[in-house]
Amino acid sequence: MKETILITGASGGIGEVFAREYAKLGQNLVLVARSEIRLNQIASELTEKFGIHVKVIPLDLSELNSAERLFNECTEAGIQVNVLINNAGFGLFGKFVDLDPKRLEEMMLLNMVSLSKLCRLFLPSMIGKQSGGVINVASTAAFQGIPFFATYAATKAYVLHLTEALHFELKGTPVEVMALCPGPTQTDFFKSAGRGSFGYLQTPEAVVEAALQGFRLGKANVVSGMTNKVTSTLVRFAPRAWVTGAAAKLLERGSK
Ligand SMILES: NC(=O)c1ccc[n+]([C@@H]2O[C@H](COP(=O)([O-])OP(=O)(O)OC[C@H]3O[C@@H](n4cnc5c(N)ncnc54)[C@H](OP(=O)(O)O)[C@@H]3O)[C@@H](O)[C@H]2O)c1
Repeated sequence: MKETILITGASGGIGEVFAREYAKLGQNLVLVARSEIRLNQIASELTEKFGIHVKVIPLDLSELNSAERLFNECTEAGIQVNVLINNAGFGLFGKFVDLDPKRLEEMMLLNMVSLSKLCRLFLPSMIGKQSGGVINVASTAAFQGIPFFATYAATKAYVLHLTEALHFELKGTPVEVMALCPGPTQTDFFKSAGRGSFGYLQTPEAVVEAALQGFRLGKANVVSGMTNKVTSTLVRFAPRAWVTGAAAKLLERGSK
């Protein structure tokens, strides 16, 4: 049966690959991001290629109450969302005290507040129908504090913890909630975060493949890529202050 997949941040990077993968499976899509022209291009291409229905909702999810607006627009259009992919997010590199407070607030609103509200708004109907689920995109940045990437890493720790707890709350129901933790990935992420490229990068296709596999298996979280899996496991056994220092060094080295 055709399902409807709502993907935030679908205008590029990991979100666009999620859209392409679900389109290949013949699922209908709701695509959300700020870049309306790009979303419409993706929508026309996928509609033509796969004969699916794609609704584009241009929206800035860092605005307060944008989550409610998105939910209401779906409800008014009679769209039942089966899978919600909370993927939109951005980071900001730099010393915490030097970063623009307005941009920091927008990051927190997008990465945490809208993401949480969308879970809260869309999950009840999934629970009612006893099907569907949510993928929240966190990051390997979630596993430790990261100097010079402090707020971003903290927002992703929030996403990971929230998602693991929701996964537990929904155990025993057919509704799946999973956190995806990619490591550095080939997208526009580093450019928009104000930093050049970053050492070894996974492809967004590899990240999405790992995500969809983990989601089918009902995992609470998926760390994509073997190196990322090993690193995110090892940090649990090392002293926290050492890990914070190592993260700062890695960030410095990776961005050269
Ligand atoms: N790339 C990495 O290394 C990496 C690693 C770990 C986790 N992640 C996470 O993966 C997710 C996707 O990032 P990406 O790597 O694919 O980066 P990306 O290529 O920069 O894509 C980010 C997406 O989010 C959308 N977006 C940004 N601000 C938005 C806003 N205010 N409202 C609505 N949509 C917004 C962007 O679209 P518009 O600009 O059109 O709005 C774009 O579609 C993010 O949550 C990121 O934190 C990325």
